[in-house]
Amino acid sequence: MSFAELLNVHERLNELFLLHQESLLRFDFELAAGLLRIYDRELRAHMRVEEDLLMPVYERAGKIAGGPPEFFIGEHRRMLEFLERFAVTLGALKGKGGDPARRVIRLLDEEAKFKSLCEHHDMRERNIFFPALDRVTNEDERRELIGRCFAANSQLE
Ligand SMILES: [Fe+2]
Ligand SMILES: [Fe+2]
Repeated sequence: MSFAELLNVHERLNELFLLHQESLLRFDFELAAGLLRIYDRELRAHMRVEEDLLMPVYERAGKIAGGPPEFFIGEHRRMLEFLERFAVTLGALKGKGGDPARRVIRLLDEEAKFKSLCEHHDMRERNIFFPALDRVTNEDERRELIGRCFAANSQLE
């Protein structure tokens, strides 16, 4: 068993975000906002287990080039700031009349920046965070920690 299993959670998150973007393209702003709220909740739950449960274990690995804990946590914060801005923009989109096409394009442009931050973050976890966690844990501990990470997200359903 490997912490790379958690890439399944990333995939599920990416899928949810795409569903949100699909509803934006259809100008269904109620649905887009609802999906963004679900995504926000799931992303926060995932970040919480990474920061509270996994980060203390990761720190056993000592200093790792390109992977100090502040990098991961700083990226989490930046991702959440993006999501707060999207929620505000979406709220305004719902209220305004007229042709929303340009405003949707502007939001999608911002969301593209968010997606590239997520990609960068996922890559850092795939290449640095998860392999280090694999190195500093034994099979039993890995199984227990990974199970708790999945449980944090499945409780939301
Ligand atoms: Fe992650
Ligand atoms: Fe993360």
